[in-house]
Amino acid sequence: MSSSDTSAVPSRILVTSALPYANNNIHLGHLFEAVQTDVFVRYHRLRGRTVRYVCADDTHGTPIELAALRQKISPEQLVEQTQKEHMRDYAGFNISFDIFYTTNSEENRKYAELIYQKLKENDLIIEKEISQYYCEHDKRFLPDRFIIGKCPRCKAEKQYGDVCESCGATYDPTEMGEPKCIICNNAPVLKQSRHLYVQLKKCESFLREYINGTDALQEDIRNFVTSWIDDGLREWCISRDGPYFGFRIPGTENKFFYVWLDAPIGYISSTDRYCKDHGERVEDYWGSGSDTQIVHFIGKDIVYFHALFWPVMLKNANFNLPSKIFVHGFLNIEGEKMSKSRGTFILAKDYLEKVNHPQAPEFLRFYFASKQMPNTGDADLNKSELLTKTATTLANNIGNLHHRTFVFCDRYFEKKIPDAYWDESVATIVEEAGREIASYYEKCELKSVVEKIHALGSLGNKYYQDSAPWEQMKTDPQKAAVVMVTCVNLIKALAVFLKPITPEITGSIERQLGLILKWEDHTFSLKNKPLGVTDKIVKPFEEADLDQVFAAASQSKNQQENSGTSGLIDINHFKTVDLKIAVVKSAEKVEKSSKLLKLQVELGKETRQIIAGIAAHYKPEDIIGKQVVVVANLKPATLFGLTSEGMLLAAQNSGGELVLLHPAKPVTSGVKVG
Ligand code: 2FM
Ligand code: ZN
Repeated sequence: MSSSDTSAVPSRILVTSALPYANNNIHLGHLFEAVQTDVFVRYHRLRGRTVRYVCADDTHGTPIELAALRQKISPEQLVEQTQKEHMRDYAGFNISFDIFYTTNSEENRKYAELIYQKLKENDLIIEKEISQYYCEHDKRFLPDRFIIGKCPRCKAEKQYGDVCESCGATYDPTEMGEPKCIICNNAPVLKQSRHLYVQLKKCESFLREYINGTDALQEDIRNFVTSWIDDGLREWCISRDGPYFGFRIPGTENKFFYVWLDAPIGYISSTDRYCKDHGERVEDYWGSGSDTQIVHFIGKDIVYFHALFWPVMLKNANFNLPSKIFVHGFLNIEGEKMSKSRGTFILAKDYLEKVNHPQAPEFLRFYFASKQMPNTGDADLNKSELLTKTATTLANNIGNLHHRTFVFCDRYFEKKIPDAYWDESVATIVEEAGREIASYYEKCELKSVVEKIHALGSLGNKYYQDSAPWEQMKTDPQKAAVVMVTCVNLIKALAVFLKPITPEITGSIERQLGLILKWEDHTFSLKNKPLGVTDKIVKPFEEADLDQVFAAASQSKNQQENSGTSGLIDINHFKTVDLKIAVVKSAEKVEKSSKLLKLQVELGKETRQIIAGIAAHYKPEDIIGKQVVVVANLKPATLFGLTSEGMLLAAQNSGGELVLLHPAKPVTSGVKVG
């Protein structure tokens, strides 16, 4: 699918996003990828192609078992609950999966066992006794995620025992420097245990052929992967000792498939479930003879699994191989790295709940698309850029052309697209642009799609302005009619081009035109037709709409920066937090916010303003005169345009009620706590 030539279109396309872990919330990093995938899927649907978008939760492994333990529920309950939350979060951003399944399914067990069996039959599995880290204190073998240490390749500290977040290397925990048990922080000891390995080396020629003989990988990734093969393919351990939440390996007592064996198999099992539910055949997608194109979207941290292990599994079990693996970079926030382990991210649900604007999800889709190219460079989510990009293109450019055109038709042409012919030169430009935009969509160059759409919007506004239809109405109304017909058709084309990215904005134009737009509808076709209600299609963000969610991100970043990966801090670390007793002098509600109170608090001789998220739990009069505990050395933050110079300490009851902390008896204002 590297060209816009429709004759090269496969009969079916199966598209996947990476499966999110079931112990994490969906954050904007997940959405960065999901939006890219969803836009690709929606584009192909718009062209009338048979495309299925499958995803699932990645449910196995020790972190999930641990998370369940902490919540005092079973791993099965945890993954069931998380699946619902994940589906809700993705739906909030209009991610249009055909199925969102789970890897903890009987289908997945079946395919995992089948693939393992095939690897065995092909003589690729060996058993080895190995030394493995064991924690004498916690009395257990330590899986990769229970060990932190130095990456053997780039020497980055505090990396997990399987993969380095810094350089992407995968390794065995025994290769790490200064390993520590993540539970108790003691150095583990080595103990013998038998494990199962896939001999990747035996598949070297197949892998070279697959990687270099197809255009499945972007060029830089292909070079990277080739260099891994050149370095020598090592055996891949696919077993873990129990206790382990996953599928037990047939023929073993207490060994389980490593989560990364059954995770990608989730792509197949989810398709299988979809097919069963919709009267289709899974072989038509995954059978080795099928002409379905399989397209994966993944982050650059999991290339090794998808470009080496996964094709080996598929090939040996006689399944269809991926035609394309689109690899993207990481999403940073305000120039800072987001990290799954360090928690420096904005959660999808926080964005949905805290951004006070009905088009917030659509705007984020647009903004992400405007930054996406099929390359592995990192992207930055930046509040001011999110504001300006959405305002400039969606509101001031396309929204403006839409509004002025339809208001004009309302006023001068009786709420109709007038009966006139369009300007052929504009129609030709749009048709040519359609071919270009299609080729960008095929290659997933969404940044170029957005730029081209913006250029067409500017062209439309210039055409409108230069034509001055308000003057033409006085002298030659038929000329104004031509301008209106041309602009309405241009808006229709823009709505088509935007449909995969901002389906709701397009939806409001569709309702107005009384049409469901398909790709072919970008060509000029409308005249002499009544119009529906002319509402503005875009209301731009105000800065205050985003304050809360971005302030929370920087706060979470600060908190995380101050704690190690183990979650434990030493006393000196604690002392860096300046906790003080303060007296609330005044309190009032923050306008347009249901959650915030603006407080003036007295800390000894000093008075500070604090914006506290307690309005749902305290009335201003309940807390005036009360003593509270304040974090006095927090970096100032801006919430709803107001500066907040500190934070009140509060506890959250299990029912969600916030309860402020007060000293047990009155103390002098401004004294230190701790
Ligand atoms: O890195 C991750 O978040 C993994 N859960 C991705 C799995 S993708 C696929 F292989 F299942
Ligand atoms: Zn330990």
